Amino acid sequence: MRVAYLDLLKLSLCDLAGSSTGSVGRMEDGRLVSRRLVGDDRQVRLVGMDWPLQGLTMVGLARLDDLQRCVESVVGDRVEGDLVEAGAWRGGASILIRATLDSLGAEERTVWVADSFRGFPSSEAGGITGGRDLDDDAPFEFLSVPLEEVRDHFSRLGYEDGVRFVPGFFQETMPTLRGRRWALIRLDGDTYEATRLTLEALYPGLAVGGYLVVDDYGVIDDCRRAVDEYRSEQGITEPLEEVDWASVRWRRETAGPEEPSAPAPAGPEPSVADAQAAVADRSGAEVPTDRERALENELEALRGRFDRAEVEAARGWGGVTERAASWVRRLANRRRP
Ligand SMILES: C[S@@+](CC[C@H](N)C(=O)[O-])C[C@H]1O[C@@H](n2cnc3c(N)ncnc32)[C@H](O)[C@@H]1O
Repeated sequence: MRVAYLDLLKLSLCDLAGSSTGSVGRMEDGRLVSRRLVGDDRQVRLVGMDWPLQGLTMVGLARLDDLQRCVESVVGDRVEGDLVEAGAWRGGASILIRATLDSLGAEERTVWVADSFRGFPSSEAGGITGGRDLDDDAPFEFLSVPLEEVRDHFSRLGYEDGVRFVPGFFQETMPTLRGRRWALIRLDGDTYEATRLTLEALYPGLAVGGYLVVDDYGVIDDCRRAVDEYRSEQGITEPLEEVDWASVRWRRETAGPEEPSAPAPAGPEPSVADAQAAVADRSGAEVPTDRERALENELEALRGRFDRAEVEAARGWGGVTERAASWVRRLANRRRP
């Protein structure tokens, strides 16, 4: 029941529970266009390749599945600390973190949701426009979601408790989060500055066994550069694991020199056995589940879709890249029985 609830929640956060979904894309000149996706067209959402018109997260189902597994893993392994997302937009990924914790009885851990809640600082706009000057402010407005709206998404789904919002640009807010202990850090600020600032402030507090997730490593050069530089400067050698075509993560294996003084969460973790069972269920299965079988069928259909999408991209519909298409093909091949 727990897994079924979280699966349904993820579909709902991605706006994939209905028969169609609204999708927002950028034209070559940066202007936004929206269209309805029906049937197989909705598969782009599965892999987080579009901006949802109404959905509460743009990261897609594959990244949400992985995020859930990471949360289950840190609870199951009793990795100390809170969980934080830096760059939350409408809040969907953070809602899943809170929901997964609650489903495991780990209510005492706090989810920190850091965002300007008014989009990107203008000085960093080049990070999402590829350096182009846009005539249209629509992409920035689309990415600016006010705090009250995000708070409302949490409460509508029943997640008012155990959430701390950190409103403001990272330049101002990140120093206030230094010295805390983290079990999971999710970075989704896209630009070099946002990625660098959040790494510097948060990574020293990541507990051994905790996860550092970077949403855009595979797709935004500036984000990748910030991560590579930081890892090299800090001598971080834990291998990068590919989450999907865009996202990577690593799990901390050794403590760094800078240790936070914030206390670990008090008391034993409730339902740890549940959490350990959940992790074991999800990672050890050799026989594909119904859902994996369904996914295989969907991915089969995707290959055809991407061939058509490439033609469409050439006509100016943004978002579908050759890199993403090849990742999907690889995933489909990997999942073949
Ligand atoms: C790609 S969106 C995040 C997507 C989100 N994680 C999801 O689940 O859909 C990037 C977010 O980072 C925020 N952001 C970017 N740079 C920032 C900065 N310097 N300070 C604060 N927020 C920033 C934007 O406001 C935006 O909400």
